Amino acid sequence: MSLRSPAPASTSGGPAPFGSPGTAPVRRATPRRYLMCPPVHFRVHYAINPWMHPHKPVDVPLAVTQWEALRDRYTALGHTVEVLPPRPDLPDMVYAANGATVVDGRVLGARFAYRERAEEAAAHLEWYRAHGHRRVREPVHVNEGEGDFAVTATWLLAGRGFRSSPLSHPEAQEFLGRPVIGLDLVDPRYYHLDTALCVLDDSTDTEVMYYPGAFSPGSRAVLARLFPDAIVATGADAAVLGLNAVSDGRHVLLPQAAVGLFGPLRERGYEPVGVDLSELLKGGGSVKCCTQELRGLD
Ligand code: ARG
Repeated sequence: MSLRSPAPASTSGGPAPFGSPGTAPVRRATPRRYLMCPPVHFRVHYAINPWMHPHKPVDVPLAVTQWEALRDRYTALGHTVEVLPPRPDLPDMVYAANGATVVDGRVLGARFAYRERAEEAAAHLEWYRAHGHRRVREPVHVNEGEGDFAVTATWLLAGRGFRSSPLSHPEAQEFLGRPVIGLDLVDPRYYHLDTALCVLDDSTDTEVMYYPGAFSPGSRAVLARLFPDAIVATGADAAVLGLNAVSDGRHVLLPQAAVGLFGPLRERGYEPVGVDLSELLKGGGSVKCCTQELRGLD
């Protein structure tokens, strides 16, 4: 993996227009708190998305090593990682992003679409309650946490079509007090919003990358209207779950195989950090799926 600093900002005169050579904007990382769950009990024993093949072997020690490398990356970047205790009966628990959506210190719990994962919801809620958080809602409608909710400075982008119920959108808006923008997912490979879209700078409402092919024509038009300067990913980068990334405002941790995204990220002043989570890809997830962000929790 190669890490390169972004091109220096222009020092001559006023701001150069976006996209001019050598004028990448300066991006600022802000310290984050993440919740992760180690894949010690990770297995692919059932198939609830097209990535999962129960007959294909999974190397659990390798999954753990890869997960630890991701956790260590976060801490090396100055972020805090909290650990959710894994349960032997819940092999998908490593995908911690699905367990809740935490915004402005409010915790909207999850309700899973498949019974195989149903009990993860209570394990997450228990963790928040045990850590003294009181602004916690157990949802009425199916939502798979940050799998389908993404946060910008103002909005909650919300996926639907495969997992989260459309009814979870008004529920999230009411509880979190943020305007929801519903987006329709149409390709079963991109069954959660976080497999098709990543917010790169959540201090703005403009900085995202996404794969248009994952969305309905109307949702594509909405994305083009809201994010005219977005990084638009190719099918090849989406197909290695390159959009399943986590950004701290500057560093973007993403699957290392998403080679086509590195250049566009650098051009915009981000530092791409390639991560190998090959074992967890076998469950249909990567960097973002393993990482729940705790926004505004003390
Ligand atoms: N096997 C899991 C499922 O299908 C993978 C979840 C991936 N998580 C995510 N945030 N996209 O539910």
